[in-house]
Amino acid sequence: MNELIVHDTDNTPIYRILLEESFEGLVPLLHSLDVSNRKLCVVSDSVVGELYGKTICEMLKEAGFFSVLFTFPAGEASKNLSTVEGLYDFLIANSFDRNDVLLALGGGVTGDLTGFAAATYLRGIRFVGIPTSLLSMVDSSIGGKTGVDFKAYKNMVGAFYQPSAVYINVNALKTLSEREFLAGMGEVVKHGFIRDFGYYTFLKEQRERILGKDTETLRSMVYRSLCIKKAVVERDPKERGERALLNFGHTIGHAVEKLSNFSMLHGECVSVGMIAAAELSVLRGTLSKEDASRIREMLSSYGMRTKVPALGREDLLSVCHRDKKSDGSKIKFILLDSIGNAFIDSEVSDEEIWTAFQAII
Ligand code: GLY
Repeated sequence: MNELIVHDTDNTPIYRILLEESFEGLVPLLHSLDVSNRKLCVVSDSVVGELYGKTICEMLKEAGFFSVLFTFPAGEASKNLSTVEGLYDFLIANSFDRNDVLLALGGGVTGDLTGFAAATYLRGIRFVGIPTSLLSMVDSSIGGKTGVDFKAYKNMVGAFYQPSAVYINVNALKTLSEREFLAGMGEVVKHGFIRDFGYYTFLKEQRERILGKDTETLRSMVYRSLCIKKAVVERDPKERGERALLNFGHTIGHAVEKLSNFSMLHGECVSVGMIAAAELSVLRGTLSKEDASRIREMLSSYGMRTKVPALGREDLLSVCHRDKKSDGSKIKFILLDSIGNAFIDSEVSDEEIWTAFQAII
């Protein structure tokens, strides 16, 4: 349970994911990637940079690496091209060349924008993911989606670009705020809902240990979520089909996120979006009312968000239709036919979306 290897569609190994309990294994990992004579740039936001960035940079220097720290203001508002431009300037000022390496230390924003900078600086340099939030450990740090928001559009500019390795210190979860931790739990329970009834049961039974941040339970949880995500992205790396199932709860979730002006965290919006998507599944006759109630109960038992402020019908529907997961005039919704089994439905009507939305206000 210490390591997973992500493969390409032709079964070629692409990168390792290490699951550790401190940052100490980072130096041996970097040596194994043959970066000894290369420059390293640790990229972090202002919060994680203060918490871990400086210490990690020092640790790398002591181990003989040339290492510099680039930080940007924490928050989704920094996930844009001007932060990436600032990073390019920093890399140029420090003479980074094509063989040098970026280390993305932090949550989803850091991972996405560092990956995008790595994909584009000098037409592509290596990067290592060091996710410190739950959401980035189980979701955004694997699968190669990188990018930034553009104007009002989330993740509008980006590239599929794989890391050279992912290093997870599961104990970093203990320094997260409760709100950030629960937002990440939204993506964790999503994995059970879409793919694995046994995992759903594990999450239900282990709730106290998970909320109590028991290291071994957290490690098992992150490992099981990673196994689910890894299997999906290995079969469908570019989201031509199955990978879209990972967007369960995301269409209404993204709409809520956008219409709340990003005052709610992504994972919180996914949590309410999953309740609405379960309700839609009931309306479409695929999911039992009992299963939809179990989904709501699971989220609520963890203290995750289950309600949002009311939104206007036209606002909600127009944002849902503009979401990148829509296909022509019909929206591609991820629905469930049971807990553990998701599918794509392109026949959902606006009336059904609006009715399902009533379940979360
Ligand atoms: N977060 C969804 C995906 O990686 O496809």
